[in-house]
Amino acid sequence: MKFSLTDSDAGSLRTPCLVTSLKIARRVASAQGTRRQLNLAAEDFKDQTDQNLVVNLGGDVSRVLIMGGADNSLSQARFRKLANQAAQALLKLPVKQAVVALDQTRAEGGKTPWKLQTIMQAVSREAYRYSAYKSKPAPQPALRTLRLLVKDRGKAGQAVRLGNALHNGLALARDLGNEPPNVCDPAYLLKEARKMGRHAKVRVSNLDERKMEALGMGAFLAVSKGSDKPGQMIIIRYDGGKKSEAPVALVGKGITFDTGGISLKPPGAMDEMKFDMCGAAAVLGATRAVIDANLPLNLITVVAAAENMPSGGATRPADIVTTASGKTVEILNTDAEGRLVLCDAITHVQSFKPKTVIDVATLTGACIVALGSHASAVYANDDTLAQQLLAAGEASGDRAWRMPLWEEYQSALRSNFADVANIGGREAGSVTAACFLQRFVDDGVHWAHMDVAGSAFQGGARKGSTGRPVPLLFSYLCGQAGL
Ligand code: BES
Ligand code: MN
Ligand code: ZN
Repeated sequence: MKFSLTDSDAGSLRTPCLVTSLKIARRVASAQGTRRQLNLAAEDFKDQTDQNLVVNLGGDVSRVLIMGGADNSLSQARFRKLANQAAQALLKLPVKQAVVALDQTRAEGGKTPWKLQTIMQAVSREAYRYSAYKSKPAPQPALRTLRLLVKDRGKAGQAVRLGNALHNGLALARDLGNEPPNVCDPAYLLKEARKMGRHAKVRVSNLDERKMEALGMGAFLAVSKGSDKPGQMIIIRYDGGKKSEAPVALVGKGITFDTGGISLKPPGAMDEMKFDMCGAAAVLGATRAVIDANLPLNLITVVAAAENMPSGGATRPADIVTTASGKTVEILNTDAEGRLVLCDAITHVQSFKPKTVIDVATLTGACIVALGSHASAVYANDDTLAQQLLAAGEASGDRAWRMPLWEEYQSALRSNFADVANIGGREAGSVTAACFLQRFVDDGVHWAHMDVAGSAFQGGARKGSTGRPVPLLFSYLCGQAGL
């Protein structure tokens, strides 16, 4: 899918499909001498949101997809719904190219770039297919290019550039998430990351298990040692900003399959634990988007990639390991493995002196109990950072909700034998997991943790990766780059 701009007058448009409001459809049909066809076909059309109508006109504009209610002033939420419905209806049509003219629809404070971004994201999401392993793949949608009609180019050009970059980043994140775990293993994630290293401003490196040993990453290695597949710590540096500027750091949980280890999970829905690398997929997708958009900022992305398996060499409940920070951890449950790989990744990324660290992880089932799938959880040791992430979520329609990181929760992680246990009690499981990670954050570092266990993938009939929170992260990073 390619997005581009057009500012041609509605009257002189040529396109196989124009997506617009009733009023504009009438104006276009009048200018092109097809007003009678339109009036007849739209006679019974209710011009309300939730309604839409396709009319074949046969002129230079051969079809119009009329979106009900699009001549009214809408709330941002309503506009987003309208964009989603337009995307759904449009992608069912056999057209390779289309023009969307919805810029005149007012969306309560949502200016042109916001409206364009909302439309592009809706189309991007709706056009996604994953059928790499079907011998008869579902047909790809016909639509290849979408032109967005605006009156005034202003900042619209930039919005379209960012929309194309986000489209690529989202598709990468979703593909990585959907890939089966016998293919998408730590080595595969490294290979995918290396592809980004072809860009002049990007360097990709990795720590293999020998190097992690040398750095004392006992927590990470306790997870990967049960698997025949060696773990990898993947590091991507993107230098798009000033040399003197401290980078923003992203850290992703990349458990390519989570069996639970010796604390083995029950079989129901265990297949969904292939999605336990969706945090890694999201930070890789956001990084891809930043590179494609050529954002003026420095970024460092770390992926902690490992497989959590039971075996004769696997970690036992009660094992004690020493982390790269020097703190010791009593592993009471080998299924709480995400925090183990992440604590060493957080320690490592801080050696690059980032101004901000954001980790993303499908960390706890408790997060799904708390928030379901609509919101990602945000934890932060800094109010400004928390607000920026929540605002980026609102703006991009990829919403998040802040959770508490109060000191009082820390005592749940007390261990009789080591500095900290890797699990708390039954209560507040998502919070105590965040509290565990916080212990590895240095003083003065602005840090946020996103638990995306509920938002990063869907189960059931629509099983698959959503690519979340790539839109939130990319929106945040655009803000950091001053856009
Ligand atoms: N990857 C899981 C969390 C998860 C569960 C993500 C379901 C998405 C859907 C994580 O590694 C895990 O197993 N967490 C445990 C922690 C517990 C042992 C303290 C959990 O949530 O049960
Ligand atoms: Mn687990
Ligand atoms: Zn896990």
